[in-house]
Amino acid sequence: MTDIVTLPVTIWDQHIAEAEQDLAVDVLERGDVLFFPQLSFPMQEDDGYLLSPTVAGDGKNVSLDPATRSLRGSRGNDVELRGLKNMMQRFAASSLGLIRKLLPCYETGLEQARTSFRPVEIAGRRTSWRKDDTRLHVDSFPSSPIQGKRILRVFSNVNPRGESRDWRLGEPFEQVARRFLPALPAPLWGSARVLNLLGITKRHRTAYDHYMLQLHDRMKADLEYQSQAAQRAYAFPGGSTWMVYSDLVSHAAMRGQYALEQTYHLPVSAMRDPSRAPLRILEKLLGRELT
Ligand code: SIN
Ligand code: FE
Repeated sequence: MTDIVTLPVTIWDQHIAEAEQDLAVDVLERGDVLFFPQLSFPMQEDDGYLLSPTVAGDGKNVSLDPATRSLRGSRGNDVELRGLKNMMQRFAASSLGLIRKLLPCYETGLEQARTSFRPVEIAGRRTSWRKDDTRLHVDSFPSSPIQGKRILRVFSNVNPRGESRDWRLGEPFEQVARRFLPALPAPLWGSARVLNLLGITKRHRTAYDHYMLQLHDRMKADLEYQSQAAQRAYAFPGGSTWMVYSDLVSHAAMRGQYALEQTYHLPVSAMRDPSRAPLRILEKLLGRELT
């Protein structure tokens, strides 16, 4: 079962001893969650008005694209949008500070991807089953193939009332894969090219992306699996931070409002133990290369 391993970090760019750096890489790569109960992201006084779900318009979150530095999914006037962007950029920088001190072995290869702000209450939110993150899943996104790269995410609960963000954590990736793989169709020849030509995918959808997307969908679609799979609940309190490989760890977010999240991508070759990557696990089970 997925473990939650606590580290006593209190400052985002705090010096971290080598033994703890070692532990951190191992915890993440083996598919457990790194939890920093005393690491809170400081909101500034003028961030207060951001704590209204309306800044996300009709969507569930606002995101900040690191390449174009532009906001997506936000709603507000110029002053509000500037403040929102400022807060998200501060979070992006803080999370990077933490990663540099905690995971220096990832320094080469690590790419900072999207930052998101999640001001909408999860419980009771209406979405399609495919977008319903209250169902256990591993992360995989239809329009953004990652071609085998890892998805490492830093979450911080910034709920002003101190309310927790409640997750469920499921069974280990290899178990999930062994359960669903036998029934998954192979990618259709030529389909990746068509998806890319039509602009449905941002880049080539590899066989790896195909299988990860299928896993994501089959997990969410299977209500019996959702209730019967081995799992545990965990509540991350307001003012805490956690980090997880969300492509490897089966997770669901059940309730909570106001979180910041920063995504990182990492090539499998930059891992300390590449054999623990979903890419390598799927390749082992399928007996073929997937990228
Ligand atoms: C998810 O990645 O499934 C959602 C996590 C969250 O917003 O807490
Ligand atoms: Fe997810």
